[in-house]
Amino acid sequence: MYYKRKVKKGPIIAIIVIILVIIVTVCGINLYKYYTSDEYRLGEAGYSEKEIKEILKFDEKYITYAMEHKYEDDFIPLMKQKYFLWKNYDAYIKYIDDVYGDQKVDYEKVVSLVNVGANNEPYTHTKKADMSKGNAILVNKYTSLPEKYAPDDFVEMSNWYAYPNNRIRKEVYDAFREMFNAAKEENLTLIVNSSYRSYEEQKEIYDDYDNNRGREYADKYAARPDFSEHQTGLSIDVFAPGSNMSNFESTDEFKWLSENSYKYGFILRYPKGKEDITGYNYEAWHYRYVGKDLAEKVFESGLTYDEYYAYYLDK
Ligand code: DAL
Ligand code: ZN
Repeated sequence: MYYKRKVKKGPIIAIIVIILVIIVTVCGINLYKYYTSDEYRLGEAGYSEKEIKEILKFDEKYITYAMEHKYEDDFIPLMKQKYFLWKNYDAYIKYIDDVYGDQKVDYEKVVSLVNVGANNEPYTHTKKADMSKGNAILVNKYTSLPEKYAPDDFVEMSNWYAYPNNRIRKEVYDAFREMFNAAKEENLTLIVNSSYRSYEEQKEIYDDYDNNRGREYADKYAARPDFSEHQTGLSIDVFAPGSNMSNFESTDEFKWLSENSYKYGFILRYPKGKEDITGYNYEAWHYRYVGKDLAEKVFESGLTYDEYYAYYLDK
């Protein structure tokens, strides 16, 4: 006899249901993962696929920031700057909006200027120098010394090293003499023209420029009292005998200082081409003592001291 085999449908249906449940679950999990992923959220914020790839290389907190804020076309180029400081992010954006409008942005310059405070007018938004930094203190148009500050350990410089009536802090004097002797071995002569200047002396210099050449000129060449490095007793103006402000740059002494001063703890404080960062005209003669270790680091960085301090020391 021939029997028609009866197929049991129950287990088949059960298997199909289980497979469907698995498929739906896997799809659901993947969809959930996708909609909560950084990629999706960055896309929703308005970033392109290429931009998202770049943002995902940043630190977690910056990725989160980008996801939680509206699209900002300056975000990635700013983040890629070597000296980018997160605490200045809003100020970078404001400066770009105020200054560049639709023009091509120089992000490196924006970061430098904002880091040193030069997005503000000089002598506005000033703060007090952190005197605990010792030889590393920063003094500029945004950072002032305590009122009428005067160091208490300065000494008179011998006429062998300086024009008459120059006083300097003891440690700086020792460092200068070491530098002087090293230069002498190369048959070069360094002579200090100006060193420590009291509040009153600095005021006299500034007022003199101001009265004779006007405020704008004065501010390019002299610091206002309490804002001058000379008042710290850590800075010296160095010349070769017979040279002056207009020709010192072309002397062998200047060339030697440019290559060697850091070895003795001194840095060129107002370099050429950095006038908008330092706020002063190029001064080939103004050297600031910061100590040997720090001077070497600043020299190697190629930064102005304002930039170096803002990025590495302003903690
Ligand atoms: N010439 C420098 C900037 C000063 O007066 O301190
Ligand atoms: Zn000077």
